[in-house]
Amino acid sequence: MPLFGLGTWKSDPGLVYDAVQVALEAGYRHVDCAPIYGNETEVGQALRDAFDNGGVVRDDVWITSKLWNDAHRPEDVRPALEETLEDLQLETLDLYLMHWPVALEPGIDMPESPDDFLSPDDVSIADTWHAMEALVDEGLVRHIGVSNFSVPKLRTLMGEVDRAPEMNQIEMHPYLQQPEMLEFAAEQGLPLTAYSPLGSKDRPDMMKAEDEPVLLEDPTIVEIAEAHDASPAQVLISWALHRGTAVIPKSTTPAHIRDNIAATELELSDAEMDMIADLDRHRRYLQGDIWTMEGSPHTTASLWGE
Ligand SMILES: NC(=O)c1ccc[n+]([C@@H]2O[C@H](COP(=O)([O-])OP(=O)(O)OC[C@H]3O[C@@H](n4cnc5c(N)ncnc54)[C@H](OP(=O)(O)O)[C@@H]3O)[C@@H](O)[C@H]2O)c1
Repeated sequence: MPLFGLGTWKSDPGLVYDAVQVALEAGYRHVDCAPIYGNETEVGQALRDAFDNGGVVRDDVWITSKLWNDAHRPEDVRPALEETLEDLQLETLDLYLMHWPVALEPGIDMPESPDDFLSPDDVSIADTWHAMEALVDEGLVRHIGVSNFSVPKLRTLMGEVDRAPEMNQIEMHPYLQQPEMLEFAAEQGLPLTAYSPLGSKDRPDMMKAEDEPVLLEDPTIVEIAEAHDASPAQVLISWALHRGTAVIPKSTTPAHIRDNIAATELELSDAEMDMIADLDRHRRYLQGDIWTMEGSPHTTASLWGE
């Protein structure tokens, strides 16, 4: 998988078509999608047009999508994938991820009450995983993985299934460096993808804390950026790549899209990596509060394993 890719959460219909086209022209060869982002049809059209125009070959682009939480029942997994393939106008996906270790009643995008959740007794993570394994056997997806999984959840799943996850996509940036996960993943040979690598400043206000630090304005990041005549975003992306993780910054602004891929050429020194290592404060921008509402089968401790 190309380690650098384009994120598409919050990339509004009307903007995401151009974003994907600009990205492919700039050299991006990895696009991160999900049906819950509400824009797979437009992403799919941009990909289709790029393939038809001969600008890019399908096999040269890595396309990831995700199974939403309301399709965890084994019988719902294949129909959910088929809808994503249709929207993206693809025969196969390169990678299909279980978006969260959380199951919702069919048809529920976001829970409004505890009744909207399915309990692990109704449908376990392993049940859903087995249905995803069948998609690989059928040739509909090339690889399967998970997202937002903690080390304990990964250990449990790996102990229960034949085919180990081939990816865990999680929030990682200098304020949330996740050293235990990095160590575990290295031991297991499990690749990681860093989401919200720039601090996800455009996420909805209801997901923001009043006092939250702004990663792109961190003085250490800004200082390192100035030393390289680079942007803070480029330093954050380069840092993720130097740690051996994939990284999928979202942008719909053409100048940012081009700026971000140029980060793949930015070399950080060991001293600069050490300076950034000191910034860790275990700060999650995406707390997953909605999954841990009172009465739900999940708590903050069970969700994140901490
Ligand atoms: N698996 C999951 O549960 C999960 C959760 C969150 C995210 N993700 C994936 O990870 C991707 C990235 O995370 P994210 O969308 O949360 O946030 P992010 O990539 O950390 O930040 C996106 C924000 O940064 C801005 N930005 C991008 N490039 C910039 C630059 N060079 N200079 C200044 N600002 C810049 C964007 O604005 P412009 O658009 O104007 O450039 C946008 O406001 C998502 O889009 C999604 O594909 C997955």
